[in-house]
Amino acid sequence: MVFRYRLIKSNRLLFKKYILKIICTVIIIFIIWIIYQSWIISQLSKLNDMSISMSDELNLALIDIENIDEHKDTWRKPDIEGTRIFSAYLDTRPEVVLYENRNLFVDNTSWGLIRIIAILPLYLENSQLTCYFKYKYKNSSFSYIVKKNFLRIVPIAVRENFDMYYSAAYILCPLPFNNILDKSILKLPHEITVSINSNRDVKKIKKDEFITIRYPKKLKDNLIVNNKNNFSICVQPFHHNFDKKIELISFIEYYMLMGVTRLTFYRDSVTNDIDKIFDYYKKKNLAIILEWKLPDIYIFERTLRVDGIYAALNDCLYRSANYLDYKYVIGVDIDEYIVPRIHDNFLQMMEHLDNDDLNGAWIFRNVFYYLMYDDDPITLPPELPELDVHRKTKRWVETNRRNDRSKFIVKGKKVVELGNHRIWEMMRLFSIFQRRYQEVEVDPKIGTSNHYRNCETVIEKCWQKKTIIDRTIHRFTLETYVQDGFNAHTGDVFAGDQELA
Ligand SMILES: *[C@@H]1O[C@H](CO)[C@@H](O)[C@H](O)[C@H]1NC(C)=O
Ligand SMILES: *[C@@H]1O[C@H](CO)[C@@H](O)[C@H](O)[C@H]1NC(C)=O
Ligand SMILES: *[C@@H]1O[C@H](CO)[C@@H](O)[C@H](O)[C@H]1NC(C)=O
Repeated sequence: MVFRYRLIKSNRLLFKKYILKIICTVIIIFIIWIIYQSWIISQLSKLNDMSISMSDELNLALIDIENIDEHKDTWRKPDIEGTRIFSAYLDTRPEVVLYENRNLFVDNTSWGLIRIIAILPLYLENSQLTCYFKYKYKNSSFSYIVKKNFLRIVPIAVRENFDMYYSAAYILCPLPFNNILDKSILKLPHEITVSINSNRDVKKIKKDEFITIRYPKKLKDNLIVNNKNNFSICVQPFHHNFDKKIELISFIEYYMLMGVTRLTFYRDSVTNDIDKIFDYYKKKNLAIILEWKLPDIYIFERTLRVDGIYAALNDCLYRSANYLDYKYVIGVDIDEYIVPRIHDNFLQMMEHLDNDDLNGAWIFRNVFYYLMYDDDPITLPPELPELDVHRKTKRWVETNRRNDRSKFIVKGKKVVELGNHRIWEMMRLFSIFQRRYQEVEVDPKIGTSNHYRNCETVIEKCWQKKTIIDRTIHRFTLETYVQDGFNAHTGDVFAGDQELA
């Protein structure tokens, strides 16, 4: 008896020792981890100081860089098979640059990235590329080319890519430090291209292989605050001879009413009437229309997702936030209306929602207003145009879950990569425990993404859904919206034409 008792006791002791050892190991690992994280953070703050001190130099250098009209951006063919490049943005966010490559600034090779928006075959992901930066001479039309190894290819929204052969991607290039340059050369490159060949004869690189590098315009134009730049909208490419003019004007007018001051449209193929609408809002400085002609190797939904949608959305993200300093970037499609359910516009809604510095994105859940449902049973005033936002008031009772067709408003500078219905990558933080800026699921009582479309699956299933009448959007879409917005502008766009069909 006694013997047995002792045995158990010593076993217990052993066990306690063992536990103690485990605890100690865990604590040590934890301490090492904390030290490592603090080291990273100190590196980040060094880089942060550096980009602040560099920004004056950058401002000076930018004075000599010509402003190239955005409408000149278009798909270019670099020296890489199956690849096209569209645009390039300076990205100096220390959190992004340092996590990309810690050695970049330590050895004075670079302090920022040039982020190229591309479409390429996914097999290239692990290839080595070379970036060719083009500089201007101060006093001559010749240019000077600097070559640097690229950093990496980052496929965009690859988890939504449905295993297609081609994918949108970022090609990241390190911005060269300007101390390598002769005094007769401008301090910043104005154009860039990439190649799979690191030994190209630079004289033989064709002019149209290069794309314009877009630096923050704010720095150049020395704008301190531009409080017009609050909300920018990003819409996927217009394809297959898009012709929904009433829907398009309704969409633009609604978002203008909500406080949006810029809409970025990617024009692949549209009808003449749509072009008229585009021209009209372009002249009013509200819309920007970018040519989006992709070559035939990219086949719609066969080898490339929806006309390069992820390249467009992310081009718009960097164009709006990095280049033009828009605070909030909104991702929606033409038939989707983000509707504030309590507040009067986006500014008020965001003042309510944007209540924590750590928040970087707000996800609005989808509500279907199927077009097959009957029009509103209450007779709307006959002078109202027949718009979906007026007639279609029957909706699913159910609100789709987050990331299921949801749409978003993001703080553009806190996001690295957008998807269509979700954010794929938020920016990391300078902090040990809080790893990234947060996404917030917006309470459907505050706002929803109202989606006016046809049944997206088997029709029987759609009819089975429970419905209610929900006229919240009428708060905005009657009266002013109609008279001063939709009617007035439709009249202007088609002035001189036959009546709008
Ligand atoms: C990098 O540049 C800084 C400031 O110009 C200088 O103090 C430092 O010694 C440089 N480091 C290297 C590795 O060249
Ligand atoms: C460029 O030309 C201007 C006058 O045209 C001259 O004053 C200046 O010194 C020249 N700069 C260089 C770097 O050659
Ligand atoms: C943009 O937002 C600021 C507040 O953040 C506000 O003062 C300003 O009026 C807004 N601008 C527009 C055009 O709504």
